[in-house]
Amino acid sequence: MQKNKTPVIIANWKMNGLLLDSMQNFKTLRQLINNSLVGCEIILCPPFTLLRDFAEKIPGSGVKLGGQNCHHGENGAYTGEISAKMLVDMTCDYVILGHSERRMWNNEGSEATNKKAVSAHAAKLKTIICVGETQYERDNNLEEVVIREQVINSIPKCSNENNTIIAYEPVWAIGTGKIPSMEEIKRIHTYIIDIVKKELPQFKETPRVVYGGSITSDNASTIMRTEGVDGLLVGKASLDPAEFFKIIQASSVAA
Ligand code: PGA
Repeated sequence: MQKNKTPVIIANWKMNGLLLDSMQNFKTLRQLINNSLVGCEIILCPPFTLLRDFAEKIPGSGVKLGGQNCHHGENGAYTGEISAKMLVDMTCDYVILGHSERRMWNNEGSEATNKKAVSAHAAKLKTIICVGETQYERDNNLEEVVIREQVINSIPKCSNENNTIIAYEPVWAIGTGKIPSMEEIKRIHTYIIDIVKKELPQFKETPRVVYGGSITSDNASTIMRTEGVDGLLVGKASLDPAEFFKIIQASSVAA
């Protein structure tokens, strides 16, 4: 089926990457991208410590920069936090919010994610808002209830189809090598789009909905060809530039 949105491939490096290796890996990725025709938007989200260096290296590379989190405040007495404006200052276009690892380890629920998204949009950052069910919720047929709660409550009123990407990331598929069937991915993406259409009037059109969780170069093109999938959010496989480039290529062909 022909897709009418530009596919987006997002690299989430999580808490990985030291300066020298990361710059070398980016140089490799940049060369691979420059030597080929890439038909998708590419967003790289390294840890905060690398943003300064990426801000210098990324212009002209065809890759956009994103943060992995931001605080809801504009500035002030929040020790250890990073604001949306600071990400913009580092030339970021995007920020990932509501990732299940933040929901789980930092106790950031949908309300906190929503507040961060408001502050991100005020700073003119685009948001990648993550939703997804745990294994327990899946086993108990709760995925639709959980995903609906996360979509409705995490996405703020200032969101629209141009400033927001929704990422469906089943928690049980993250870093496990397990992925849902293509039927399941299609069903959940369609469900998310349905919620947006029926319950989020701030969207005049449907936003891009991407899939994340154990993406590799072997499964990328099949997932990208699945109805309702507009892109991929890639964790572990994005750390290896050759593997990440294969995912970009597979996705460009499939789109
Ligand atoms: P993974 O992580 O690709 O390593 O499963 C995806 C994510 O958490 O964004």
